[in-house]
Amino acid sequence: MNSGTGTAWNEGQAPTSMRAVVWTRYGPPEGLVLRSVRRPVPSSHEVLIGVHATGVAAGDCELRALRFSLGLRIFVRLLMGLARPRDKILGQEFAGVVRDVGTGVTRFQPGDRVYGTTGFRFGAYAEYLCLSEHAGGGALAKTPVHLRDDEAATVPTGALEALHFFRRAGDLRGAKVLINGAGGGIGIFAVQLAKLYGADVTAVDGPTKRDLLRSLGADQILDYTREEFARSAESYDVIFDVIGKTSYTSTLGRLTPDGYYLLGNPRVSTMLRGIWTSCTSRRTVVFGAARQSSEDLAQLRELLDSGQLRTVVDRTFPLEDAAEAHRYFETGAARGRVVLLVRSEQRPGEPGREAGKLGEVRRGTAPVPTVPEPGDSPGGNSAREARSGVAGELANVVELDLAP
Ligand SMILES: NC(=O)c1ccc[n+]([C@@H]2O[C@H](COP(=O)([O-])OP(=O)(O)OC[C@H]3O[C@@H](n4cnc5c(N)ncnc54)[C@H](OP(=O)(O)O)[C@@H]3O)[C@@H](O)[C@H]2O)c1
Repeated sequence: MNSGTGTAWNEGQAPTSMRAVVWTRYGPPEGLVLRSVRRPVPSSHEVLIGVHATGVAAGDCELRALRFSLGLRIFVRLLMGLARPRDKILGQEFAGVVRDVGTGVTRFQPGDRVYGTTGFRFGAYAEYLCLSEHAGGGALAKTPVHLRDDEAATVPTGALEALHFFRRAGDLRGAKVLINGAGGGIGIFAVQLAKLYGADVTAVDGPTKRDLLRSLGADQILDYTREEFARSAESYDVIFDVIGKTSYTSTLGRLTPDGYYLLGNPRVSTMLRGIWTSCTSRRTVVFGAARQSSEDLAQLRELLDSGQLRTVVDRTFPLEDAAEAHRYFETGAARGRVVLLVRSEQRPGEPGREAGKLGEVRRGTAPVPTVPEPGDSPGGNSAREARSGVAGELANVVELDLAP
């Protein structure tokens, strides 16, 4: 492994350790423990990123607790450790600053503000992480100018997931789109992107998300605790089931004859039924892992900077309170995203956010860019990079000593 250029370190010897939240066992949040571990060193095509903020996602909590079907639980244990996770740091999405670059890096330089996702390498619950400048398996781009790091860290996985599915859903102009689980990490971006594409959006989520969903532009809001969209008389051109908690047959019954059923969180059985539906009718069922592309992340930056796309931070926690942040996330009380603040520094002139303060919806002021078209297929090798991500290829943790 090559060392980086070292140009970012002007205080002498670069540090060799860092603070990270280590995932010590499958189960409750107490298994997330702050430790001092070895700081990664960038190889020739990698950037070393000083993480300032990292989002707590539903996927992090599900993985931590192995909250999956039996088959998937076995699969995850085989990949990540049978009895306990092997030296893992959770966390996929992050925002921070480039601290060092490998000798072959051309797209970034020390000091660049960046945001992105590590994909299945994980490792974002830490002060530093290394990522290929092309982000192999993840995505990496310059941070939206108008967003603070805590806000930027909430964008990558949810927004890329929503973009991925809507690109496979045909022309959304004038389409009736229903989003189930619209108030969560994927849903808040799905609602806004569907509106940007020109759809009429029905957002389904719990009663505490009503104001949030209205502020994001939803045309109709359904409370899943009071009414089941799958039993209503309405039909939709596109149904994006983010959480996969409704019956496949009932949901299909609410789809127009040429409609698209987007399975954001499918089981094996629904994927098989989806293939059958697509082969035997005019309806299209879409599923599969989202492509995480740096080009898409750069395009999202323009939408965020123009104020066409917003993010919502509900609450921030310091890195050392990762277990508490997971506990809070799992209460379901959050209206917007939960974020771990790894370093408290903000951009010069930018007021810091109090840890624990309720967040806000932010708008930027830059010129208005084009909305990415459904069906667009941006060039570059990002799809190949995304597919090359290997589940279980997590950050290699070498514990040095317990943090104070
Ligand atoms: N974030 C990603 O990029 C990503 C990528 C791939 C896969 N996934 C998977 O996709 C799933 C959703 O992810 P997410 O990040 O959006 O999760 P999330 O942040 O937990 O959001 C889920 C939303 O669904 C709502 N909900 C719960 N039960 C519902 C029901 N019966 N009907 C309608 N809404 C309901 C929740 O509301 P309450 O809090 O009121 O229950 C919550 O607002 C997770 O299983 C995740 O692992 C996520």
